[in-house]
Amino acid sequence: MARPPQATITDDDLFALRWDRGRRDLTGPIRRLYGDTVDADAFLDRLKALLHQHWQDRPADLRLLDLQRDLNPDWFLSERMVAYVFYIDRFAGRLADLPGRIPYLADLGVTYAHMMPCLKPRRGANDGGYAVMDYRQINPDLGTMADFRAATAAFRKTGISPVIDMVVNHTAKEHDWALRARAGDPFYQAFYRMFDDDTLPKAFEETLVEIFPAQAPGNFTYYPDMGKWVWTTFNEYQWDLNWENPEVFLAVLDTILYLANQGVECFRLDAVAFMWKRMGTGCQNLPEVHDLLQLLTQSTRICAPAVIHKAEAIVGPSDLVPYLGTGTHAGKVSQLAYHNNLMVQFWSSLASGDTRLMNYVLKTHFPESFRRASFAPYIRCHDDIGWAITPEDTAHIPAMDAKAHRDYLSDFYNGSFPGSWARGADFQVNEETGDRRTNGSFASLAGLELSVAAGDDTGIDMAIARIRLGHALIASYGGIPLIYMGDEIGLTNDHSYLTEPALADDGRWMQRPAMDWAVATAPTGPAARIKADLRHVMAVRKTMPQLAGDVPTRVIDTGNPALFVWQRLGDDRTVTCIANFTARPQSLAVADAGLDAGKLTDLLTGRPPEVADDRIAIPPYGCLWLR
Ligand code: GLC
Repeated sequence: MARPPQATITDDDLFALRWDRGRRDLTGPIRRLYGDTVDADAFLDRLKALLHQHWQDRPADLRLLDLQRDLNPDWFLSERMVAYVFYIDRFAGRLADLPGRIPYLADLGVTYAHMMPCLKPRRGANDGGYAVMDYRQINPDLGTMADFRAATAAFRKTGISPVIDMVVNHTAKEHDWALRARAGDPFYQAFYRMFDDDTLPKAFEETLVEIFPAQAPGNFTYYPDMGKWVWTTFNEYQWDLNWENPEVFLAVLDTILYLANQGVECFRLDAVAFMWKRMGTGCQNLPEVHDLLQLLTQSTRICAPAVIHKAEAIVGPSDLVPYLGTGTHAGKVSQLAYHNNLMVQFWSSLASGDTRLMNYVLKTHFPESFRRASFAPYIRCHDDIGWAITPEDTAHIPAMDAKAHRDYLSDFYNGSFPGSWARGADFQVNEETGDRRTNGSFASLAGLELSVAAGDDTGIDMAIARIRLGHALIASYGGIPLIYMGDEIGLTNDHSYLTEPALADDGRWMQRPAMDWAVATAPTGPAARIKADLRHVMAVRKTMPQLAGDVPTRVIDTGNPALFVWQRLGDDRTVTCIANFTARPQSLAVADAGLDAGKLTDLLTGRPPEVADDRIAIPPYGCLWLR
């Protein structure tokens, strides 16, 4: 029999198919965001031309990855995913040194490498690189765009997805767009939020909060040379973009796709909550933000389906959920979002040894799963901890007051609360509201710094157990766990920033130490133990399909306030995770966890759990993964 002629599909066919698939997810947001200010058809034509141009520029190996991920769009939800978040200079030196460190990452099980801000920042103070003056150039201190491409290719070859920050809420005031605006060009003035006098800024301030009340009070800055007020939510040198202007969307998308073609596989979209503003509101989490995220995500998917987005929205529980897509946005916005509420509740339960608030918040506010999206759970990152604890939630916990609990957590973690094991520090104390946030590394907040200094071996054991608990939580709760550089070896607070003028006023540098390679390779000691624990937790995670990001997570209320229990409702089997947030041994009636004692294995030890009188034993700060 003659073989039928081989079917062929050209690259242009593929683009046309992807455009047809994605187009209908673009039109709604365009209409809602820009209304009559644009001719929707003409706008779509421009968008299509932009996508097509970057598609044509897309290197062949990335097009192949696009095809693979079109066929396996759930790749990022896999239980095999593990993230590492690091500063290139503090981790490896320059970009060219990075491939040499891949074996270290591979040994930890890492498949996702978030290189902290590495695009060209303004000189001097730059908010840790979040004040970018050129999104198409690499920070010259780190190398060149060619070095960057070489690094992303090296990562790709070892199955590690390169991730970078895309600062979408603001640019440095030295960015070309800002310079042109400042020189009076009306096209670029419309890229930012500028006002001729302070009438509107004052009216907006009525309902805005201050992000850096200590070092950058207020949300607007006056520039006498321009005779204009500029919206500056963060520092004076970070100018908020005006996303109501469709030209801003096209210009930022153009940049994202350019960077995608250099090998970036995931963009961490910075400070997305602030992208849209409306008088009389806090100008955070407005519904338009989700339309913008849909537009960015779906446009990216047409041109570069291998690429996903992660939303950085560090907000309260009910505001966080929509960042993973709810209602008409389900399955269409950012595929990942930071789970800052899990992080806050981890620290809250750990300090008080009481999981009731954690239980309530995580059970009440969060759906068990999302469509084609999941969280990025984490315990520490480069930022401070904002105590996102609301009176609406504490009202459900007997004798708990939100403000008092936030104060307690601040005092506990700055070390002043009697009996605290933590060594952190207050951040951005707001004199007006009394609110405080907290800095400090995972290990210092978990008690390692204090115990090592005191030569207290039991304290060291407890600190290591708390760190293991945190890592076991993020490895099993759902989504891609983010390991923050240095936490795998328990690096403690670094105070050297105080001697660097451009950093000294920002206490967040405390938790951004340089990698200590001598400690990282030491065969014994606390660092070696912490690393061995983490490697083990991540290795076991990778063998458990029930821990994939799309498997529903259900919080179980057992009535024991020392325990936090969650189940991963796998298709074939359920995994029940039990965490003890106290320094005392605990037990849980087998029936209360809906389990059958006879057949259980704790996957973390590979053995059946200890059961006596039909009660499962959970050691101090222990975590069991039962199947
Ligand atoms: C994000 C970053 C933070 C930065 C802010 C402004 O929250 O994580 O470090 O200060 O955005 O860009």
